Amino acid sequence: MAGVLPRLERQGAKSKPEVAPEEVLYTDTDRSGDTLDLDLSSLWWYGTDSDFRPKGRNWPLIWAYIIEGGGSTKTTSVTSMAVIAALDGFPGVVFDLDSNMSSTTVLGYDETALKGKKTAIDLLYGRATLDEVALPARYRVGDGDDPEEDFEPIENLRVVPGSPAMADADRAIAEDADRNDWFAEILRSYEGIDSVFYVDFPASYGKMPYSVLRMLDEEDSVIPSIKADPKAVKLVKRLTDELERVRDKNRGCRSVPGRPTLKHLILSGTQPLTWPEQVAARRATAAAEAMYSSVLLPYIRYSADAEKIYEDAVPLPILLPDSVASVDYREVMRRMWMFPYLDECGCDYCPGALE
Ligand SMILES: Nc1ncnc2c1ncn2[C@@H]1O[C@H](COP(=O)(O)OP(=O)(O)OP(=O)(O)O)[C@@H](O)[C@H]1O
Ligand SMILES: [Mg+2]
Repeated sequence: MAGVLPRLERQGAKSKPEVAPEEVLYTDTDRSGDTLDLDLSSLWWYGTDSDFRPKGRNWPLIWAYIIEGGGSTKTTSVTSMAVIAALDGFPGVVFDLDSNMSSTTVLGYDETALKGKKTAIDLLYGRATLDEVALPARYRVGDGDDPEEDFEPIENLRVVPGSPAMADADRAIAEDADRNDWFAEILRSYEGIDSVFYVDFPASYGKMPYSVLRMLDEEDSVIPSIKADPKAVKLVKRLTDELERVRDKNRGCRSVPGRPTLKHLILSGTQPLTWPEQVAARRATAAAEAMYSSVLLPYIRYSADAEKIYEDAVPLPILLPDSVASVDYREVMRRMWMFPYLDECGCDYCPGALE
């Protein structure tokens, strides 16, 4: 839908977190050499109408973070991008569909905190509604488990917690074909004001990922997030093949959109510290630019402390707001919102025209 700008609802961004411990900022430039000085709030230029939905539908944009390789940086990207948007006043829901529960951990919930609570598996089985399952996202500030004392809320963001039981999600759908519609049912019954559904997938293309991907339309985005490694870049072809398969299977089907499209590619961990990794990162970057330049987002540079998001149960833009990776994710979000629909029209504002 080239040339049509979405109008997203912006909620009051009340509680920006306190400044977290700083990581050494070893460069403050993006890959074109320009100094980054972002004020995201001035860039959310979609107005304040609350009723925009792509093609008039009742559910938000869907951003699907999927790629077959484990440890690719999906969760880091999902949580960072969702938190940046939420802190800037744009509400969203992170769906953690991975049995490793990584997004759930980063957004403040472990298995103890989830005792007795519904999770993504209950959505899949149709045993609960989205509003019953989604929890307010939060981050850890203390060592205990007191929801008031040891956690701070992240305004405007909810998380559908994952569950170890999601490891059996493909089998559950294989055994009961009706379960294939679980995500469609959530979307059709949705009545909220979220701007984006961010979906964190397991590292495989089974029946569960298929049940979500077939609900994406061209306005939505499939966003593989990969490390700057030549082997990871090769995995993107398998993803585009899988998306083609989903589109083929649903061609002519009127009950689901069936058009998941690779709209953006995130390359993470560029500029790593050791020499062999730097060589690999350069080769990966060159390969990604040769094959996927039209969808490449600004690079996410290497951040040695990125893994702390799991130990600390705090998303990167809150834990290390000045780290190079946080700076880069803010630039990525700026790009996502400024040019989400204009990449096919060939106008002066298309991402390609900016390179
Ligand atoms: N910009 C970065 N620089 C350095 N390391 C990073 C960066 N982003 C993520 N990582 C690290 O890469 C590893 C994998 O990241 P992440 O857990 O986000 O990947 P994933 O694709 O979700 O993995 P999984 O398939 O296991 O769920 C983690 O150790 C993370 O800390
Ligand atoms: Mg993950």
